[in-house]
Amino acid sequence: TATSPDFKVADLSLAAYGRKEIQLAEHEMPGLMAIRREYAEARPLAGARITGSLHMTVQTAVLIETLTALGAEVRWASCNIFSTQDHAAAAVAVGPEGTPDAPGGIPVFAWKGETLEEYWWCTEQALTWPGADTGGPNMILDDGGDATLLVHKGVEFEKDGKVPSPDTAESDEERVILQLLTRTVAETPQKWTRLSSEIRGVTEETTTGVHRLYEMHQAGTLLFPAINVNDSVTKSKFDNKYGCRHSLVDGINRATDVLIGGKTAVICGYGDVGKGCAESLRAQGARVIVTEIDPICALQAAMDGYQVARLEDVVETADIFVTATGNKDIILAEHMQRMKHQAIVGNIGHFDNEIDMAGLAKLPGVVKDEVKPQVHTWTFPDGRVLIVLSEGRLLNLGNATGHPSFVMSNSFANQTIAQIELFTKTSEYPTGVYVLPKHLDEKVARLHLDALGVRLTELRPDQASYIGVKVEGPYKPDHYRY
Ligand code: NAI
Repeated sequence: TATSPDFKVADLSLAAYGRKEIQLAEHEMPGLMAIRREYAEARPLAGARITGSLHMTVQTAVLIETLTALGAEVRWASCNIFSTQDHAAAAVAVGPEGTPDAPGGIPVFAWKGETLEEYWWCTEQALTWPGADTGGPNMILDDGGDATLLVHKGVEFEKDGKVPSPDTAESDEERVILQLLTRTVAETPQKWTRLSSEIRGVTEETTTGVHRLYEMHQAGTLLFPAINVNDSVTKSKFDNKYGCRHSLVDGINRATDVLIGGKTAVICGYGDVGKGCAESLRAQGARVIVTEIDPICALQAAMDGYQVARLEDVVETADIFVTATGNKDIILAEHMQRMKHQAIVGNIGHFDNEIDMAGLAKLPGVVKDEVKPQVHTWTFPDGRVLIVLSEGRLLNLGNATGHPSFVMSNSFANQTIAQIELFTKTSEYPTGVYVLPKHLDEKVARLHLDALGVRLTELRPDQASYIGVKVEGPYKPDHYRY
């Protein structure tokens, strides 16, 4: 059955350590814990089979156990090869009541330092439900859209009647996906079509995954409805910004322990993530330069007091480079070739295509060496060394432990509410991409005020009617930008 202890993690003996950190995190995640209490009896997710593809951290463990407390069955994989915290994965596999000898948690397939083949195998395992009629989940909880992508590709190729040859792939990752689909389609004909037939929807965590969903919807290929969790205000204006403000410097420090004060740092992209990154480096005493393509964000950066420049003009003088664009090919090999000795290069955007690692590897005479896992030096023939973090993958999760609990409580409260919405009100959401209504966004914020000692001012009825809102909210029109 789906509750059988099938899982693959690094080391079950880490479970007790993981459990202690989960218990500490629970106190720091008041939103999730309030939702657990609110729905303890109703169990609105009873009957839900949720496949999760999201960084397998301590905070995610609290999310997973919230979903199960609400009645869901869950299978999980990480959404990045470096982001799993092995003690968290072990604790989730063992479960609150189990022991390493008699695990009783949920099927989790995640460990730190997966190969690409292992990564996509784990995603497949999370999507494959041995006990279910369709063999699949009826809900997906995604971060970056890889679980959703695998289902959509599988269905597309089954419709075409064939999977393209892996030899036609344009990247290593695409080759691995095509190999996997070639195998699964041969093993279980119509696996993906059958598996997707009961999926009621997906709730998507991040900017990049949401972008993929809108593209599929516009192309008419989206198979089921989606809730864009990222664009809840209490997600993108908190996790992306304040989360990265915390975890960017954490990643740089754990990776290099270089003194940030006095250095020059370049942040590529001044969206929600870039804003948090720039603030954290400035707070450490760095001189921060921003690059942008959007005049509005460029102007914001200038007004916030940052120099706004082009990468090619500052590439020789800066010490730290961080990409935060969600776009591709931002730092190219030709840039890296011109950087200072011991410049640090890292990415905090979702995918690893912001920094041209393949191009770097092809530069004549360049030599890669491992300092420690997720920290590499690249030495050029003239002796200059470049320090690259997490091989160009998101460094806050690869080199540190990602965002802290309190901010993730906001994101994951949105995730949980979105799962309840789509699962229980399926007919109200025809295939399309939705954001949660504002009153739920405000609810998530409200759940986090007490813990910070916030005393909210109460609107008087006459004031409420003067500004045209209800006393209990929502307080802003949908177009308000915060
Ligand atoms: P956003 O859309 O708010 O910001 C991205 C910014 O990059 C935009 O202002 C855009 O104009 C700019 N940009 C695009 N191409 C550029 C180029 N060639 N040069 C300079 N700037 C460019 O997106 P957001 O929410 O800030 O997310 C950025 C990325 O970070 C996404 O991939 C997202 O999924 C990821 N993310 C990562 C997190 C983490 O913990 N590592 C947390 C949240 C999001």
